[in-house]
Amino acid sequence: MQFYDILDDMFKDFEEYKDIHKGKGVRGTLITTISPKSNKLAAVVEAIHLASLLHDDVIDEADLRRGFPSINAKYGDFTAVMLGDIIYSRAFYELIDFGEKIAKTVSNAVYLLSQGELEDVNLSKEMNLDKNKYLNMIYKKTASLIEASCKAAAVAEGLNENDFGLYGKNIGIAFQIIDDLLDVTQDEKTLGKPSMLDFKEGKMTLPYIYLYEKLDEADKEKLKSLYKKDLSETEKNWIKNKMNELGIISKCYSEAKELVENAKKAIQKYNIPKLEIIANKIVDRKF
Ligand code: FPP
Ligand code: MG
Repeated sequence: MQFYDILDDMFKDFEEYKDIHKGKGVRGTLITTISPKSNKLAAVVEAIHLASLLHDDVIDEADLRRGFPSINAKYGDFTAVMLGDIIYSRAFYELIDFGEKIAKTVSNAVYLLSQGELEDVNLSKEMNLDKNKYLNMIYKKTASLIEASCKAAAVAEGLNENDFGLYGKNIGIAFQIIDDLLDVTQDEKTLGKPSMLDFKEGKMTLPYIYLYEKLDEADKEKLKSLYKKDLSETEKNWIKNKMNELGIISKCYSEAKELVENAKKAIQKYNIPKLEIIANKIVDRKF
């Protein structure tokens, strides 16, 4: 992933940047797959994503990111916020060079993802049972930047931005649904952060919304009593077993798979096998 070298070079003067651990590079990889010449654009979008995660870990009070101490845990909230601002501002400075169309596409996504983050915080205040609110929030928080990455790369390559945008939007929503599922199904070692943290943080993700819908009255009350609590292993297992028994894990997987199929359909005619592989990997992953 050549774009990570460009990114590292951009921020080499910042000591704390060296403690940031790289992620999967989904957005950058999508950009360079659609537009091989767009390594710099890929670095810019990865920089924006990185900045948003630095702020997100402050908001979520997360100690771990990608299995390593988060920047806020290591250096404190002020450093994490400021480093995020530095990375974010530099990314925008570089973004202008790609022309108005690409700059507007990406900056509009940042506007949306910031709104999505605020909605996530607000929806976590009490048990949200509205699936549409959840889907709308994850579209903004996660899918908007993935959608914009694909659109911007299509623009750079002179391809149809709507087709690639639709691909990005669908895999973006699927990506977050799978993320929210893995929070339930995987252990701390695999996730690089404690398991079932979402529910403790008040985040009613898709599996929890479906679980609540399917539980009987007594169990609905039990689930409510566990909301935002530090869960014991027994309580975690109760939730997981209920989700399995009621077919909720497989229901969420099928919905994510359907989104991936829609994504692949949107770009089928361009015959770019790597985009199909990326789409499939989004669903078939352990972390
Ligand atoms: C991760 O969500 C968060 C995001 C994808 C978006 C965060 C956006 C902001 C903080 C807005 C500010 C933006 C900029 C560019 C400075 P998550 O908490 O569900 O995922 P996680 O489990 O990986 O933390
Ligand atoms: Mg977070």
